[in-house]
Amino acid sequence: MHNQPLTGQTLEQLAAEALAALESAADSKALESWHVVYLGRKGRVTQMIRRVGELPKEERPAFGRRANELKRELETAYEKRVQAIKAAEMEKALAEGAIDVTLPGRPVARGRLHPSTQVLRRIYQIWADMGFQIYRSRDVETDEYNFQLLNIPPHHPARDMQDTFYTTEEGVLLRTHTSPGQIHAMREYCPEPIRVILPGMCYRYEQISARYEIQFHQVEGLAVGYNVRFTDLKGTLTDFAQRMFGAGRKTRFRASYFPFTEPSAEMDVECILCDGQGCRVCKHTGWLEILGCGMVHPVVLQNGGYDPTVYSGYAFGMGPERITMLKHGIEDIRYFWGNDLRFLEQF
Ligand code: PHE
Repeated sequence: MHNQPLTGQTLEQLAAEALAALESAADSKALESWHVVYLGRKGRVTQMIRRVGELPKEERPAFGRRANELKRELETAYEKRVQAIKAAEMEKALAEGAIDVTLPGRPVARGRLHPSTQVLRRIYQIWADMGFQIYRSRDVETDEYNFQLLNIPPHHPARDMQDTFYTTEEGVLLRTHTSPGQIHAMREYCPEPIRVILPGMCYRYEQISARYEIQFHQVEGLAVGYNVRFTDLKGTLTDFAQRMFGAGRKTRFRASYFPFTEPSAEMDVECILCDGQGCRVCKHTGWLEILGCGMVHPVVLQNGGYDPTVYSGYAFGMGPERITMLKHGIEDIRYFWGNDLRFLEQF
């Protein structure tokens, strides 16, 4: 065709030939090469348009107009054909089962509650069901509330149990346990009877390791009233353990010591991982220690404003991170505040 003299006729012929070729292009590959052959930068239509100079001057504008028109028409026809073939190819893939329409969609990433928050809320729920209200007090405490009013005088050896973060202000520190909340609650409610839990963050000046963190939650409990006995403490805590770890879960109490309770005890639950058979987590004892407790010391009752000859009470303190670790066999407490999604996403 290159050798033929250029006329309007040759242009029409090329367009007709291109359309026919387009009709017989059967897949996207064939379509692609069609586009290169006819409409590409070195394609036949493009090249013919470039030959406009071979025409007598007066024929050139009409030729140019018609050439551009035909080019646009071919582009449109090409786009249409692309869509048609795409649809046909999709249909075919569907029919052959290459696209699995039953695959689930891409899930939207969702946030969730921190494992400690989840366990805290479960603990609140159980104590709420048993008639305990939440009482909150501040993380920043005085030496007086954190130690002295809890029967821990300035040089009492029990202070070694809790290495403390002190502030630059004399006598002001970060609470090492939630027990100072007992004094706040008693001073607020006295002389009414009390049934509260006191949850919150506690801080200790520790070398951080798999077993120790410098911050952790505690949930303290306090009941004060007439004729509150050690049997009430045992029964209530045993009921809590069964609600928390499953009906029929055994508990045992071991004698212990805290300056602010007398007598004092620690409660163990039957290992929740091996059902008391003995495993790595319970160190083959079949028991897990989950809380400290005792009858509120008369000195502490008095410091709270209650006459210890009239009132009595019990108190307990547990660590939700420790409970979570035991429940899930987590071996390193640093995961809790490590902000590692690989850990957090498992809860
Ligand atoms: N405050 C104690 C601790 O930090 C726990 C405790 C609370 C013990 C209340 C007895 C009564 O270990």
